Amino acid sequence: MALLELDDLTRRFGGLVAVDHVAMRVEEGEVRAVIGPNGAGKSTLFNLITGVLKPMHGDVRFAGQSLIGLSVPRICQRGISRTFQLTALYPQMSARENVRLAAQAREARHWQFVGGGVTFAAAGRRADLALERLGLTAIGDRPAGLLSHGDQRLLEVAMALAQEPRLLLLDEPTQGLSVEETAQAVDTLAVLLADNSISVLLVEHDMDVVFRLAHRITVLHRGAVIADGTPQAVRQDAEVQRAYLGGFV
Ligand SMILES: Nc1ncnc2c1ncn2[C@@H]1O[C@H](COP(=O)(O)OP(=O)(O)OP(=O)(O)O)[C@@H](O)[C@H]1O
Ligand SMILES: [Mg+2]
Repeated sequence: MALLELDDLTRRFGGLVAVDHVAMRVEEGEVRAVIGPNGAGKSTLFNLITGVLKPMHGDVRFAGQSLIGLSVPRICQRGISRTFQLTALYPQMSARENVRLAAQAREARHWQFVGGGVTFAAAGRRADLALERLGLTAIGDRPAGLLSHGDQRLLEVAMALAQEPRLLLLDEPTQGLSVEETAQAVDTLAVLLADNSISVLLVEHDMDVVFRLAHRITVLHRGAVIADGTPQAVRQDAEVQRAYLGGFV
């Protein structure tokens, strides 16, 4: 059984089919890139998996159980966390506070059992650990809004990581970063993912980043999967080159 299984997943907006009968399997420990031109349906796919949007039909199964109909917090509690394509931080709060609040969101279900104090402390520990894994310990006390753009993107990864997900969804983690910031962020992510303890869905336009991090690649075009395979196979796929790489890279 794959960790994440998408079957026949379909979402329309009016007459537009944003996600079109998508099937996908993501194994435990796998880093899967989802690529495709602007408007291909990548962010919509993330919104369907995380419960932000409901599919018209099809199924999302995580660890063997359907997520259809579950709320966003419930799905997070099952073990799926994400970052957003556009930065989603509280700019006046410290980096550490941002991460601690994110960690606490996953713990919400425990409030009635263990009480706020214990939850607060546990979330603080998970926040410190996540900051450390992203190399952000030194800037933990600074307001998030004053961090460099690169550190803000890594902070968002730390926020998702502090929820201790089994599956991490990263929506364009290097968007808007300089060449140097991108290189640094990718090095940090490569170390984080090296032990295969976490499964990842990665939406990314920078093909160097994709080929550096991904074990497998799924190519979306107008909402449909047009290729799915190893980076090597996808690079050589003629349809992918026509539909995507040729016009984009
Ligand atoms: N809430 C919405 N209402 C109407 N149309 C939407 C909505 N969200 C997305 N769309 C449309 O669905 C299609 C897929 O959008 P989506 O954001 O998933 O693409 P994407 O692959 O993430 O693109 P990008 O690379 O630009 O981020 C686009 O045509 C978009 O305009
Ligand atoms: Mg998008």
